[in-house]
Amino acid sequence: METTSIKEVARQAGVSLGTVSNVLNRPEVVAAATRQRVLDTIRALGYVRNDSARQLRAGRSRTVAIVVLDVANPFFTDVVRGAEEAIEAAGSLTVVCNSGSDVAREDRHLDLLEQQRVQGVLITPVDGGRDAELTRLASRGIPVVLVDRGSGRRDRCSVAVDDVLGGRIAGDHLRERGHVAVAFAGGPMTIPQVADRHKGFTAALRGHVDVRTVVTPTLSVAAGRQAGAEIADLDPAQRPTAIFCANDLLALGVLQEMTLRRIRVPRDVAILGYDDIDFAAAAAVPLSSVRQPREQLGRAAAELLLEESNRPDRHEHRHVLFQPELVVRESTAARRPRPGRRG
Ligand code: RIB
Repeated sequence: METTSIKEVARQAGVSLGTVSNVLNRPEVVAAATRQRVLDTIRALGYVRNDSARQLRAGRSRTVAIVVLDVANPFFTDVVRGAEEAIEAAGSLTVVCNSGSDVAREDRHLDLLEQQRVQGVLITPVDGGRDAELTRLASRGIPVVLVDRGSGRRDRCSVAVDDVLGGRIAGDHLRERGHVAVAFAGGPMTIPQVADRHKGFTAALRGHVDVRTVVTPTLSVAAGRQAGAEIADLDPAQRPTAIFCANDLLALGVLQEMTLRRIRVPRDVAILGYDDIDFAAAAAVPLSSVRQPREQLGRAAAELLLEESNRPDRHEHRHVLFQPELVVRESTAARRPRPGRRG
């Protein structure tokens, strides 16, 4: 079906092309009666503006892309929700791309986003080595802001949570609960956030508590079940009495595995997660978790990107670092260490 052109609208409304363009882009400069007549004609003819052509002429679109590691992880749902609020308020559109923690897939997304001349890209990169790709985008006039990851660069904004502190908070909590043999479940360690949580956790416990590290292939519920099985299969006398998981999806998987094996949580083994997604509180045994301010992360990252995109003359690159917060629930409730354990 042929769409109505702007020329047809101008002819039917009895005005110039420029007046129709002003009604669409600068309505405040058109007399009210004329503006209303043009709008009535647009509606009557079913005219729809071809924004992509206009945006290509302007050299960029009004679309902000958010590239996430795992679209199935509620952590990213909340980050996107926060970012979208700021993006929509600025009159732009949000598109979400899922890298699935796959480098080649992430590259394909970045190539297509460059071709689309998006207004900017918010991204949680698959690993710590994506600098060249992100620098290429920025050199083509597409600003990039890292989310849930520090950029470590003066020429690129980032918004993150202090994950080393988050790991330390987790270690202090389990030690304060009397655990003397604990496990860390998380991976891959190429994800800087995971490595930082592990670093803070082991630093807090060094010299006081034995830490067994179970590296997982992904940050998913299935990987949590595998890690839970590996720990549950240990001789009970060797089994850690608490498990800190690098995110809540892993923790939910560990909880599921322990429950299926009739290992009681927290009585036999305590479980601590990270992110504090809504499912943490709703779990069969409500999960303790190190909370990340997810919507704030997304909103702050979007605001930095929009400022860089819309006011480059006034923008200064910044690294926003939020503090994590411990949320204690039943899965790490106070317990007495088993007899025969130190501490
Ligand atoms: O961003 C990487 C990971 O950190 C995500 O899995 C999310 O859960 C956060 O914990």
